[in-house]
Amino acid sequence: MKTRAAVMYEHNQPVVVEELELDEPKANEVLIRTAASGVCHSDLSVVTGAIYYDAAVALGHEGAGIIERVGDDVTGFSPGDHVILSFVSYCGSCRMCEMEKVCLCESYDVPRGFQLDGTYRLRNSSGDGILQMARIATMSEYMVVPKQNLVKIDEHYSLEKAALVGCGVTTGVGAVLNTCEGGARKLRSGHRDRGGVGLNAIQGAVLAQAERIIAVDIAEKKLNFAKSFGATDVVNASVYDPVEAVRELTAGLGVDYAFEVIGNPKTIVQAYNMVRAAGTAVIVGMAHHQSDVSIPAQHLVSTERRLIGSFYGSCQPKVDMPKLLGLYTEGKLKLDELITQHYRLDQINEAFADMEAGENARGVILFN
Ligand code: APR
Ligand code: ZN
Ligand code: ZN
Repeated sequence: MKTRAAVMYEHNQPVVVEELELDEPKANEVLIRTAASGVCHSDLSVVTGAIYYDAAVALGHEGAGIIERVGDDVTGFSPGDHVILSFVSYCGSCRMCEMEKVCLCESYDVPRGFQLDGTYRLRNSSGDGILQMARIATMSEYMVVPKQNLVKIDEHYSLEKAALVGCGVTTGVGAVLNTCEGGARKLRSGHRDRGGVGLNAIQGAVLAQAERIIAVDIAEKKLNFAKSFGATDVVNASVYDPVEAVRELTAGLGVDYAFEVIGNPKTIVQAYNMVRAAGTAVIVGMAHHQSDVSIPAQHLVSTERRLIGSFYGSCQPKVDMPKLLGLYTEGKLKLDELITQHYRLDQINEAFADMEAGENARGVILFN
């Protein structure tokens, strides 16, 4: 069958929206009609090569849709089911999965962007195989994905809102509530750079009843979003040194937790420098795959600081995603306010430009 998709053919070049040939789902795979795809900075990181995929790859990793057909051996899912796409495939039975660290599943050693059997499902008009970002590619009208990437949700949820739970919401809220475990309940103050994911880290801090939430960004518009999502203080890092500003706001002590949500080595070090002794810097943003950070080694020991990573909000997609939608229903989690712009698929390059200009909390591509 045919599908229109946004494809990265060359790093740092405009994304191409074109019609592709899509194979039928094989065993353990499912065909989805995409309803909505969020536009996340990680999609742009694939375009720049910061998150490395060989070209060509169909983009998108934050989406929701409706099951159209299921392949052989698929149980528990039927045509018509509404699903969120998880951007990791997990087996549920390996060591990491048994430790409930399913996003760190060790079972699938398949090159990036291929289906679990190591083959393509998408092909362009020249017959060349096209990879799928995160094995899903939500910026496509239809997608064939592993059943391991699906989270079934109640039909009454708006798929557009549910799409955001596929990455940004779960990554941001989970970084606070899951990665920091019981610690987050003691959260006195957290901070950080307020993009689509960062706003959700603020929402996580609100849910964790943080006493103070200090948002840092370089865009005034983003700091205003941050306030409306629950930040108690904001720091414009293009005007003030954010480390000094955060120290001042905390009577010289530093914050209990700092969340870095953009993947910039400079802001990762800033996050480290903002936490108090025995505090925790949580790195959520995906830095360039070749970048390093340097921190003073002795200082790490003598201040007992903790520097930890948080991938996908340490989530269990099937448990956490329906729970997050439930919090939305209860009015405890903002999803409507996250969406500040809708795009058609063929406006993807415009959506990336708006993201770089700091225009949106989240932009969302809607499919018919
Ligand atoms: N200091 C503070 N804030 C900054 C800085 C800086 N030096 N540079 C950029 N920012 C802000 C931007 O103004 C923007 O508000 O970082 C924010 C990034 O937000 P988005 O572009 O919306 O990115 P998002 O989708 O939230 O993704 C953030 O998380 O999952 C990862 O790979 C993803 O690295 C990406 C990160
Ligand atoms: Zn993302
Ligand atoms: Zn596993």
